[in-house]
Amino acid sequence: MFFELTEEQLAVRDAAREFAQKELKPGVIERDSKMQYPAEQVRQMAELGFLGMMAAPEYGGGGMDTLSYVLAMEEISKVDSSCSVIMSVNNSLVCWGLETYGTEEQKAKYLTKLAGGEWIGAFCLSEPEAGSDATSQRTTAVDMGDYYLLNGTKNWITNGGKSQLHIVMAQSHPEAGHRGINALLVETSWDGVTIGAKEDKLGIRASDTHTIMYSDVKVPKANRIGEDGFGFKFAMKTLAGGRIGIAAQALGIAGGAYELALEYSKQREAFGKPISKHQAIAFKLADMATEIEAAKLMVYRAAWLKDQGMDYDTASAMAKLYASEVAMRHTVEAVQIHGGYGYVKEYHVERLMRDAKITQIYEGTSEIQRVVISRSILEGQLYLPVYSSSMEHRI
Ligand code: CAA
Repeated sequence: MFFELTEEQLAVRDAAREFAQKELKPGVIERDSKMQYPAEQVRQMAELGFLGMMAAPEYGGGGMDTLSYVLAMEEISKVDSSCSVIMSVNNSLVCWGLETYGTEEQKAKYLTKLAGGEWIGAFCLSEPEAGSDATSQRTTAVDMGDYYLLNGTKNWITNGGKSQLHIVMAQSHPEAGHRGINALLVETSWDGVTIGAKEDKLGIRASDTHTIMYSDVKVPKANRIGEDGFGFKFAMKTLAGGRIGIAAQALGIAGGAYELALEYSKQREAFGKPISKHQAIAFKLADMATEIEAAKLMVYRAAWLKDQGMDYDTASAMAKLYASEVAMRHTVEAVQIHGGYGYVKEYHVERLMRDAKITQIYEGTSEIQRVVISRSILEGQLYLPVYSSSMEHRI
C-alpha cells in the first residue's frame, strides 16, 4: 500500500490551508453570527481555482484528481464549513455531474462558467415531501414538444439564492416512477424562478440555503441531462461522488476541533499542570486522533477508488457515515475539553460542533448511508479490503 501524497497534492493542501487560515479565519465568527454570505471569500476561492478543481482545463477547471479536492475541502472545513459547502456543491454535484453526463453544448455553455466560479451552481433534488425518499419527486417537467414546463418547489437548496444555474430533478412520466424523472439545467434568471427566504440554520449559517419555487418555467429540451428518464440515476451517481466531498468536510471539521482542543489543553493549567497531562483529557485526545485517522483513511480511499475508475458508491457512503459521526462525536469532546470557554463563540469549537451536525443530514442522512451500505452487503456485492489491478472489484 502506498500512502504518500504527491508533490501536487501536498501543494494543493498547503495552498488551501494557507487560504483558510489567512483569509477565512479572521471573519468566520462574524459571518456565522450574522448569517452573512461570504461573497468576497467565494470570489477568492474562484480565483484560486477551488470551485472547479476536478473539471477539465478545457472547461476552465483545475483538472485535478478527487484526492486533491478532498485535501482542499478538509483544510477549508477546518476553518469555515459555510465556504466548504458552497465549494463542495459547485465541484461535485454541479460541475462533476455536468461534465460526466452533459452534452458538449451544455458543457460549453455552462461548465465553462461554473468551473471558473464566474457562475455558481445548485443541485435541486430535495422537496418538502421528498427528502430521503428522493424517488417521490412532486416537481413536474411536462413535455411540451421542444421544451419542458417546470412546476414545483425544492427546499434546503445550498447556493439556492446566489446561483445562476440550478440542476433540477423533476418528474416527466409519473407512471414510470423514478424512471420518469429528468435532470434539467435551469438558469435562475428565467421567468418563473422564485427564490424563497434564506433559512436561519443551526450551523453553516453563512452558506446560502433557500426554498425555490418554479412556476411555469420553460426549459428547452436541449437542457435535459442524458436520455429521457435518466434524472434519478444522474442524481444518485452524482450524489455518490458528492458524499466524498461531505465526508471530507466532516473530516476537516473533526480535525479543526481536534487541533484547537490539543492546543488549548497544552496551554490551560489545572491542579498544577496543563490539562493535557491529566489522563481524563489525554485519553480524549487519543480517541480523537485515532478516530480521525481512521476516518481519513476511509475518505482518502473513497477518493482514490473514484480516481482509479473503480466502483466507489459504497466506499463513499461508508466514508460519509463514519466521518460525519466522528465529526459530531469529537466536536462535542472539543467543547468539553475547552470547558466554559468552549461554550462561547470566540473559541470556535462551539461553531464546529454546530457545523458538524449537518454532515449527518445532507447529501443523504446517516440512515440513508446505512441503507446504501447494507443493500450492497445483502445484495452480495463483495467487500474487498485489499485491491489489485487484476481483481474484480465490486464494493
Ligand atoms: N447509482 C446509479 N443508480 C442508482 C444508485 C447509484 N448509486 N442508487 C440507486 N440507483 C438506482 C437504482 O438502480 C434504481 O434504478 P432501477 O430501478 O432502474 O434499477 C433507482 O435508482 C431507484 O433505486 P432504489 O430502488 O434503491 O430506490 P429507493 O427509493 O429504495 O432508495 C435511496 C433510493 C438510496 C434511498 C435514494 O432515494 C437516496 O439516496 N436518498 C437520499 C437522497 C439524498 O441523498 N438527498 C440529498 C439531497 S442533495 C443535498 O443535500 C445537496 C446539498 O444541498 C448539500
